[in-house]
Amino acid sequence: MIEKFCGTMLRDDRRFALGVWLPCDASWTSPLNAATIPHRADGVRSMPPAIDPFRITDKLEPSALDVMIDRLEVRGHHPYFAKPLSEYLDRMEIDRRSTVLDLGCGTGIAARAIAARPGFEGTILGIDRSDYLVQAARRFADDEKVGGRVRFERGDSHALGLGSASIDAVVAHTLFSHLDDPAKVLTEMRRVLRSDGVIAIFDGDCASLTFELADAERSRRMDDAIIASLVTNPRILRQMPRLLKDAGFVVDAIMPTIITEIGTADYWKSAIESFAKLAPKAGILSEAETTAWVGEVLDASANGVFFGSSVYYAYIAHAV
Ligand SMILES: C[S@@+](CC[C@H](N)C(=O)[O-])C[C@H]1O[C@@H](n2cnc3c(N)ncnc32)[C@H](O)[C@@H]1O
Repeated sequence: MIEKFCGTMLRDDRRFALGVWLPCDASWTSPLNAATIPHRADGVRSMPPAIDPFRITDKLEPSALDVMIDRLEVRGHHPYFAKPLSEYLDRMEIDRRSTVLDLGCGTGIAARAIAARPGFEGTILGIDRSDYLVQAARRFADDEKVGGRVRFERGDSHALGLGSASIDAVVAHTLFSHLDDPAKVLTEMRRVLRSDGVIAIFDGDCASLTFELADAERSRRMDDAIIASLVTNPRILRQMPRLLKDAGFVVDAIMPTIITEIGTADYWKSAIESFAKLAPKAGILSEAETTAWVGEVLDASANGVFFGSSVYYAYIAHAV
């Protein structure tokens, strides 16, 4: 495996792997499967194309989707995550909107939060590409007795079967980092939005996701591998000012949130445990590599030396 990396030596006695120069004779084992790493035209190895499990939920087996459901529910009810949702819904003045669309609704965390607001009297349509997640969303809504206000349907955000100018507000809660074609989805959002409507795009700035291990360089390589395994568009929120402008939106507000835990993991613990099951599906990290990483990170938490962090942003915008 090391030989394969040496084969891409670019200059002198060093090789470039995962964004880092290494001596060719270094006894370093890649956290990645070297055989799967393609070469770019300029000879530099790039990260393998992601098979982001959240992008292919319509093709995943139920056992993987059950892991996702547990994670989305734990995350959605965690105060660190519920707070920015509530704040950006306030900023959108969601309570005065009659028809709301929740794109990539998953288990319906955002749709249910809107339906449960005392001041909200409208209706919400949640759309997700996974029928399994749509069914879970219906069950959760019934359990929480908000089923009368929300409807969940299977669909693709790139081609919504909805009339033009038919929706007052569109929410995309942690969808954009997983999309095949974010610009196309923005165009669809613009099409279905009424002229006085509002949209919110909330997601992790996944390029900022980081978990520190004892070895700083290994931390960086594993951060890169985890991000590539779980996200299709890790820098999408940094592209958003351009993409929104191109799609015909004006930004009204940008609301950043930093979720950092230092010492002990709580919010990040369930994330890390779900990564252990979902990340190997992307084909970059093996199950053994992911399990070892999870062990290291959770040991750090048990020993009070954990560091885990990501920035999140909400963009609130209206149509030009
Ligand atoms: C990270 S989950 C977020 C779920 C939910 N919004 C939440 O925050 O709990 C991303 C969701 O987007 C859905 N998804 C991905 N691509 C999609 C697409 N093109 N159209 C509709 N849903 C999509 C996935 O099925 C998944 O449920």
